[in-house]
Amino acid sequence: MTKRIALVTGGTGGIGTSICKQLHDDGYQVIAGYYSGGNHEKAQAWQDQMKADGYDIAVAYGNIRDFDSCQTCIDGIRKDFGTIDILVNNGGITRDTTLKKMSPEHWDDVIATNLTSVFYMTRLVINDMLEQKWGRIVNISSVNGEKGQFGQANYSAAKAGMYGFTKAVAQEVASKGITVNTVSPGYIATSMIMDVPEEIREQIRKGIPVGRFGKPEEIARVVSFLAGEENGFITGANISANGGQYMH
Ligand SMILES: NC(=O)c1ccc[n+]([C@@H]2O[C@H](COP(=O)([O-])OP(=O)(O)OC[C@H]3O[C@@H](n4cnc5c(N)ncnc54)[C@H](OP(=O)(O)O)[C@@H]3O)[C@@H](O)[C@H]2O)c1
Repeated sequence: MTKRIALVTGGTGGIGTSICKQLHDDGYQVIAGYYSGGNHEKAQAWQDQMKADGYDIAVAYGNIRDFDSCQTCIDGIRKDFGTIDILVNNGGITRDTTLKKMSPEHWDDVIATNLTSVFYMTRLVINDMLEQKWGRIVNISSVNGEKGQFGQANYSAAKAGMYGFTKAVAQEVASKGITVNTVSPGYIATSMIMDVPEEIREQIRKGIPVGRFGKPEEIARVVSFLAGEENGFITGANISANGGQYMH
């Protein structure tokens, strides 16, 4: 059997890199989506590093907040590798500030990059998946989409929106061998978190019952499980991986 093809948006980022490595180890042809404002050298350097570490992972450029760019990205992958079997919508950003200071740009940037992108990418792969009667879609949400977070009205709204999208699409495609799920990481030690001032970070850490931040590999394991051939029965679900920070 030919290798299944997995696209991970934000694949060269903190959690994305671990997801790419895990899916590579699971035996898939993995493609890491990147944007980096068009800095192709950065993606090339990432790919070279992966290769040196024993991971043969392709890279594909695309701005996930732009439909035409997503289309070009997917068309290129289709041409070079074939249809996408596994889509991990992992790309995302934060623009934190309290609502009283939040500008329309803060709002629009976060909704477009974290939520509208999920519609764009899923819309662009779903017909192929329907046709081949198999597919896995995993959307990376956040504990802050589950519980809300001070200073993150935009991010919490975008990440919570993913649950509705996931459950609606899961119902539409369930009879065609396609599963759609979310994973909601708690605080994971990537630059997204390590860039937060130390004093605030320490406060966050104290609120995590296991007493530490999560590791990107711990999120990658959940994605691997949901993306697996054997997982045909979990769909429309959300798996929280947050060290006990939020239980519901
Ligand atoms: N770290 C955490 O504690 C945590 C917790 C809960 C949820 N999450 C979620 O996990 C996901 C990965 O986060 P991370 O911690 O790994 O952060 P990260 O290292 O900053 O990675 C984010 C990725 O998103 C990509 N991205 C941003 N804007 C994009 C655009 N317009 N087009 C295409 N790609 C774009 C970036 O790609 P380029 O650099 O190439 O632009 C980057 O690879 C995000 O959805 C985040 O919200 C993270």
